[in-house]
Amino acid sequence: MYIYLCEFLLQRSVRLTPTSMLYAGKQQDGAHILKSAQYLHKELPVRIAHRIQGFRTLPFIVGCNSTILKIHEMYIRAFHILHEHPPVTDHESEEKYTEALKSLLDDHQNVVTMLAEGFSECRRHIKDESMIKGFLDRMLKSRLGIRMLVEHHVALHDEMPNHVGIIDVNFSPRSLIERKAEFVRHICQSKYGFAPIVKLNGHLNAKFPYIPAPLDYMLGELLKNAFRATTESHLGNGNNAPDIVITIANNEQDFNIRISDRGGGIPHDIVDKVFHYNFTTAGESMEQQHDNYLFGEITSPSHMSGDSPGKMHGYGFGLPIAKSYAEFLGGSLELQTMQGIGTDVFIRLRHIDGKYDSYRI
Ligand code: ADP
Ligand code: COI
Repeated sequence: MYIYLCEFLLQRSVRLTPTSMLYAGKQQDGAHILKSAQYLHKELPVRIAHRIQGFRTLPFIVGCNSTILKIHEMYIRAFHILHEHPPVTDHESEEKYTEALKSLLDDHQNVVTMLAEGFSECRRHIKDESMIKGFLDRMLKSRLGIRMLVEHHVALHDEMPNHVGIIDVNFSPRSLIERKAEFVRHICQSKYGFAPIVKLNGHLNAKFPYIPAPLDYMLGELLKNAFRATTESHLGNGNNAPDIVITIANNEQDFNIRISDRGGGIPHDIVDKVFHYNFTTAGESMEQQHDNYLFGEITSPSHMSGDSPGKMHGYGFGLPIAKSYAEFLGGSLELQTMQGIGTDVFIRLRHIDGKYDSYRI
């Protein structure tokens, strides 16, 4: 196993631009799908080998945690399946390979939740915050890239209107935000008996090609925080809960989304910690003592992130994951808070077909 792994660790990963995926060209005989499978067949073992190496370099106390160990073993299994899979040469072998990929996507569905659980169990033994952040940032970005490539390949088989694989060629930030806000609002309403209204402004008519799935996940996490802060700071006074205001700004280079809530802001003594993995104030309020799963369901059921809704709340992974995804997507996530009033979160994301270089997956 170790000899194998070294061989793959020495190989360079070949990262694609979303533009090259968008314009790869569709051929009637399916040659583009065959080519995509052949690329993955070579590329995935290299990427998975690096993930396994990441687990091997974790401090002993973390690496021995049963949940972390389980994830480590899942990646070793994935490596064997992918590495030992016969080459893709024709339509039939491509179908078999794609079936194997689909079941791996399913098997790895809950990896982020498992990481959150595993680290919450063992991180109190670790003093070095930057080591944990380094491991999780690398792990989550690389996993996002792997899942995007695999999901794109799988989606090339479907003929979805306005889509090339996972790319929505006519993506509307407004529609995504409205859908997501409605989803979170609904759950908030059923948990608290009331929910703030979400108002949108700015470039509401903007449309451009984009890969919505990671943004879908990020919005779920950020809206969850804004709804929670607003409702918890207006308990008993729900009718006066202030609106959450979302602004969209589009330009040639990137697009920006600002989520402004008036949920009281983040206290001075914790504001420096909110981007730490596993930092959370969930479980502190009375409300949460009655219901451990308060807002538990408010995690996007995003296909791409592959984590089931309902398990992420309270692990303190929302903000750090959203930030690391934004960085992976060639952008940034920043937060400004006004203690006593509320919080603004700014997401900035690169276009994938703009005049300027985009990111690589
Ligand atoms: P979780 O939602 O699981 O607690 P996050 O990483 O999303 O994890 O957030 C970490 C903490 O940051 C939250 O528990 C909360 O205390 C604080 N926080 C995040 N967003 C806001 C916000 N908009 N207003 C007030 N506090 C916030
Ligand atoms: C993951 O979702 O964790 C993956 O790395 C997916 C891959 C095994 C297909």
